[in-house]
Amino acid sequence: MSTLQLGPFQLPNRLFVAPMAGVTDRPFRQLCRQLGAGYAVSEMVTSRKDLWHSLKTSRRADHVGEPGPIAVQIAGTDAAMMAEAAAYNIDRGAQIIDINMGCPAKKVCTKWAGSALMRDEPLAIAIVEAVVAVAAPRGVPVTLKMRTGWCATERNAVALARSAERAGVAMLTVHGRTREQGYTGCAEYDTIAAVKAAVRVPVVANGDVDSPAKAREVLARTGADALMIGRAAMGRPWIFREIAHFLASGETLAPPATADVRHWLVDHLQSHYGLYGEFTGVRSARKHIGWAVRGLPGGEDFRRSMNTIDEARLQVAAVAGYFDALADRHRLLPQASAANDGQIALEA
Ligand SMILES: Cc1cc2nc3c(=O)[nH]c(=O)nc-3n(C[C@H](O)[C@H](O)[C@H](O)COP(=O)(O)O)c2cc1C
Repeated sequence: MSTLQLGPFQLPNRLFVAPMAGVTDRPFRQLCRQLGAGYAVSEMVTSRKDLWHSLKTSRRADHVGEPGPIAVQIAGTDAAMMAEAAAYNIDRGAQIIDINMGCPAKKVCTKWAGSALMRDEPLAIAIVEAVVAVAAPRGVPVTLKMRTGWCATERNAVALARSAERAGVAMLTVHGRTREQGYTGCAEYDTIAAVKAAVRVPVVANGDVDSPAKAREVLARTGADALMIGRAAMGRPWIFREIAHFLASGETLAPPATADVRHWLVDHLQSHYGLYGEFTGVRSARKHIGWAVRGLPGGEDFRRSMNTIDEARLQVAAVAGYFDALADRHRLLPQASAANDGQIALEA
């Protein structure tokens, strides 16, 4: 898959991992990159200065050992504060600033940030201009992530994309849902295609890409320059290399070896504890473990059993044991199946 130029950076391919608060922390981003993602945007960081020193924000701004370019997403409602947040993050290593106009979370929307900004185009563009004004002189590209619009009758992504391009954004990502849809319904790709046709900067298509075949279909339908994948990478971060292989060869890559999945997950857990510490790390790792075993034989019981383990050492041993037992029967990772979630135990 060909590279993509983003400002001064040449991204190795066109498959990106989506920013997901509470999920795409540094260890998970690194894992996705290791398994084929060409680019990763960090979880959203608030533009509220009073929160910059909170543990949550400082963990989100942790990029130690992360391969570049380091992309930091910021969210907020005030142009001056957003510009300040951009400068603050650039001073701490951000090489690309992404503005969030795509997040439907209430916490963000009640403060008129995230996708709510799409309803107020003048404010949205004032924010882009203010952020570009501090980022451009430092050689930092500014990107924008948005939805197709506020609601079905206010689908203004094309107008906003054009104004944002004029204001200096270097790349646009469009999630094919309106703000009103949240995560319900299906992503639609016609608006993404219309945005792609309306601007010259690279456009990234996002929403419901969950297989190599879907990736090819969305690229064809939108003409987008790249794809961004979120939920389908949870517990299945090798989806990036599967898509890359399929797009390059037209052939389906075999599932990963079960032993490799064990190894990736154990390594991921170790980096996860490194970032969060043992107490928080063991607890927040449970969701990653749950996604990794979802649909696998005995996976649901195993996921539940994780809630009783409070020590990193024991959590790692249990995960390793689960995958070792699975590898004895399945050299390649078995296909995830909803039917397995009901199983009581690993079959003999
Ligand atoms: C748990 C979760 C957290 C998310 N957090 C963010 C975020 O911080 N910033 C953002 O722009 N989008 C966020 N999103 C939206 C995703 O980046 C993406 O646009 C959306 O999930 C659609 O892509 P998908 O169908 O591939 O998952 C989040 C999505 C999920 C599921």
